[in-house]
Amino acid sequence: MNRTRSTDALAAFIGALVSTLMLRGLDFGHAPWYISRSSGLVAYVLLTLSVVLGLLLSTRSPRPLVPRALAFDLHQFISILTLTMIGVHAGILLFDNYLGFGPAEILLPFASDSEPLLTAVGVVAAWSLVAITASFWLRRHIGPRAWRRLHYLSFASWLLSLVHGFAQGTDTAIPFVSAIYILSAAVVAALLTYRIGSRSGSRTPASTVSPQAGPGNRESRRLASRAASD
Ligand code: HEM
Repeated sequence: MNRTRSTDALAAFIGALVSTLMLRGLDFGHAPWYISRSSGLVAYVLLTLSVVLGLLLSTRSPRPLVPRALAFDLHQFISILTLTMIGVHAGILLFDNYLGFGPAEILLPFASDSEPLLTAVGVVAAWSLVAITASFWLRRHIGPRAWRRLHYLSFASWLLSLVHGFAQGTDTAIPFVSAIYILSAAVVAALLTYRIGSRSGSRTPASTVSPQAGPGNRESRRLASRAASD
């Protein structure tokens, strides 16, 4: 990065920080909560897509549906998009007056008073996804073996995201949303089983490219408790 670009990046960062601090004082009602919930779901679906693509890449089918180079680029692109949506999902909570999240609650596990364990699970998943996505650029420095090992972490991150979204999400109460969790878990489990099976059946390394990486009206209850606190 040259000097002008780093100055621009620093100016953009400071600008974003100052605007965030100024806007935090305003009352946006429930909008930040709705945005956080929808972006959380989009992030989860994208993460699942990325894991599925990674698994398809590493299983190395003899007749791939899409050229491997294209699939790899897509895999990387979806990972970055996932991280962006996670940024929106967590960042917008800074403007939700009900949960009262500050930077610490978003960045540090167990800093939140609201469902501390489940929020911590989300925070840990987010940090591990940051590390995995960053490794796309560090591959040349850390070598393919370390890169592949780091990429195995994506299964754990995906599982943590599933637990976090399913158990903490208001929208799990919606049948369509819980169907997404069930279907995604079934697809990832099936592909993982297939991949482990195909690996133990052959001594050849599968690939140099590795995978990524309640019922009841919960929303009304949460809305009611938010209204009571308004
Ligand atoms: C910095 C880390 C994170 C924080 C602070 C955080 C915080 C939260 C909170 C407070 C909720 C509950 C929202 C509600 O009231 O329904 C939630 C739900 C959710 N989160 Fe996260 N989260 C984080 C990371 C992640 C990650 C890494 C993913 C997945 C890629 C994710 C996906 C979801 C999903 C799918 C929901 C459920 C949305 C709904 O059902 O309405 N979160 N998160």
